Amino acid sequence: MNLNLNNKYALVCGSTAGIGKATAISLASEGVKVTLIARNEEKLKAVLAGLPHPENHDYIVADFSNPVQLKTKVTEYIAKNHGFHILVNNTGGPKGGPVFSADLSEFENAFTQHLKCNHVLAQAVVPFMKEAEYGRIISIISTSVKQPLDGLGVSNTIRGAVANWSKTLANELGSFGITVNNVLPGATGTERLSEIIKNKSAKAGNSEEEAANAMKQAVPAKRFAKPEELAYAVTFLASECASYINGINLPVDGGRTKSL
Ligand SMILES: NC(=O)c1ccc[n+]([C@@H]2O[C@H](COP(=O)([O-])OP(=O)(O)OC[C@H]3O[C@@H](n4cnc5c(N)ncnc54)[C@H](OP(=O)(O)O)[C@@H]3O)[C@@H](O)[C@H]2O)c1
Repeated sequence: MNLNLNNKYALVCGSTAGIGKATAISLASEGVKVTLIARNEEKLKAVLAGLPHPENHDYIVADFSNPVQLKTKVTEYIAKNHGFHILVNNTGGPKGGPVFSADLSEFENAFTQHLKCNHVLAQAVVPFMKEAEYGRIISIISTSVKQPLDGLGVSNTIRGAVANWSKTLANELGSFGITVNNVLPGATGTERLSEIIKNKSAKAGNSEEEAANAMKQAVPAKRFAKPEELAYAVTFLASECASYINGINLPVDGGRTKSL
């Protein structure tokens, strides 16, 4: 199987940590020229320096709480540099907690950071993808698209919106050689997971180790994912080999999701 990703351009969001960082490394290892995005410039520089052939890659500093500014930065970057064949939509997860007690601002913030930012990024990258007759838009969402997760009320709600946005876009862009797919991580060993474990242990009144073990027992694989295991799925979907996979939700969760 030849992924044929050499010299493709990718914009990888939320790429200074966790799944986004692992995805940037995996794509760069396949010869992709990666532009990283996150808020912290020091971390961006450090990740860039650790990629294979750092001179082939670049970064943009942007905050997903401001989609208008994000759109301006990415549009200007494209005008000055190059467009992108691959867009990986990814950012920090919404705050946890039950949906009933959520403040309106939590929904608004999560909608802005996840849906509005994905949308402005897609609008910015699609013209080049159409010209290139090659496009891959991959959104990192959550298995809560298929089965809501306890204690992640706002996240469960907004993830459904993002998945439906993505599926609709897949229908609209399929005829241009552009695919739009979602990767749904299960519990994956990142900073985000450490936060979730802390919340669960505080709520249950047990140790973090006990909370983590209980989460692992709910997974047929009996362990958490490594960020690379998500990155490999994204890399495959970004490749030519995945050209006829469009509009799907791909759980990478060790079998945890109970639905088909
Ligand atoms: N890990 C899991 O178990 C799991 C499970 C299901 C779903 N997910 C979802 O998958 C996605 C990635 O998760 P992860 O575990 O890899 O997260 P993570 O380790 O917390 O990394 C988040 C990344 O997003 C960036 N980021 C956060 N807020 C941002 C903002 N406002 N603007 C721009 N960049 C921002 C961070 O960099 P800066 O701080 O430098 O900006 C970092 O690079 C999240 O949506 C998460 O909820 C994760």
